Amino acid sequence: MKYDYLIVGAGLFGAVFAREMTNMGRKCLVIDKRKHIAGNIYTEEIDGIYVHRYGAHIFHTSDKKIWEYVNRYTEFNQYINSPVAVYGDELYNLPFNMNTFSKMWGIKTPAEAKEIIERQIRKAGIKEPANLEEQAIRLVGTDVYEKLIKGYTQKQWGRKCTELPAFIIKRLPLRFTYDNNYFNDRYQGIPVDGYTKMVEKMLEGIEVRLETDYFQVRNEIDADTTVYTGPIDEYFGYTLGHLQYRSLRFETEKLDCENYQGNAVVNYTAADVPYTRIIEHKHFTFGKQPVTVITREYSSEWKPGEEPYYPVNDSKNTELYRKYQELAEQEQGLIFGGRLGQYQYFDMDKVIASALSCVESQKK
Ligand code: FDA
Repeated sequence: MKYDYLIVGAGLFGAVFAREMTNMGRKCLVIDKRKHIAGNIYTEEIDGIYVHRYGAHIFHTSDKKIWEYVNRYTEFNQYINSPVAVYGDELYNLPFNMNTFSKMWGIKTPAEAKEIIERQIRKAGIKEPANLEEQAIRLVGTDVYEKLIKGYTQKQWGRKCTELPAFIIKRLPLRFTYDNNYFNDRYQGIPVDGYTKMVEKMLEGIEVRLETDYFQVRNEIDADTTVYTGPIDEYFGYTLGHLQYRSLRFETEKLDCENYQGNAVVNYTAADVPYTRIIEHKHFTFGKQPVTVITREYSSEWKPGEEPYYPVNDSKNTELYRKYQELAEQEQGLIFGGRLGQYQYFDMDKVIASALSCVESQKK
């Protein structure tokens, strides 16, 4: 069998690309080395609860076309992401807003909150931040930094904030309204039937082979063009070295209680709690099941062979990625796409936009 496109990876990028090309009459084969489709947005059903296996995924976008696009494949609910943060025995709303400030300082008005923050920033007197700690204090003052940023960031990066470069934090938005909606985007929600069904619908009528590693079958499949959404450095056998990532470890547990924490996302911002957050999956879809499923999320150092999550886009890795890109440009009939192929953190809406623009470039 001869294919127009071999698509490596049944994640969001691969599924959107395969759908569009199939709609245009091209013959596509999608392969994935995992046992399931949907890549990192995979949701598995446990007792009627859609569990986000590779981390919490909330769909949000300001792009009306992308919102209409995903709504062709699933129905979204009205979920609004409003995480809370636990620091010792204190609990605060996120993102940093008037609910946070009012609880922290017992104040009511934006003017009072601004006055406290500005006073703390003035007192710290940081002009040229030498590290992440100084940068954060310069932006939000000492209280918000100590309670809500310091320990969490330290766990995320596995290093003290004084040992991290200032540029990691460019902005720390402060909201002087009583608004707990984490995202500023116009459209937001969670698929009522989970993300896996959305991707299943995208892939309807398309040949998909699971548990199929590209490197084991590359010589057996005849395709004009390969769209590769795995790690770009792996494609080239790491000849120039390994690109680095931050990794995550998930500890999932089913609990015999109806409601464990009352919210889908609870961040743990103190350094002495080993996990960064707990996800209670049923709250993403307003579940009423008698049991619940929670996942503790730990940030971890990435080693080759482990699941890569967040690319480390520092100058060293960016330079290495650029060199791999140069190798990629020399190949005929090969496209690199998605978060691993392009070594970039992409939200889901951006991955879809990127896949659609890749489809457009194929029309030329
Ligand atoms: P993805 O990794 O999903 O797919 C690539 C596929 O290729 C995988 O299935 C893999 O198995 C397969 N593959 C790799 N090598 C292969 C090989 N050699 N042979 C065969 N198959 C191979 N976004 C958002 O909008 N809202 C959110 O809330 C979140 N939350 C979030 C949490 C966490 C922890 C992370 C890390 C990321 C998010 N995201 C997010 C981003 C979101 O996960 C991301 O946009 C998409 O999963 C990217 O889809 P891709 O198709 O690019 O990669």
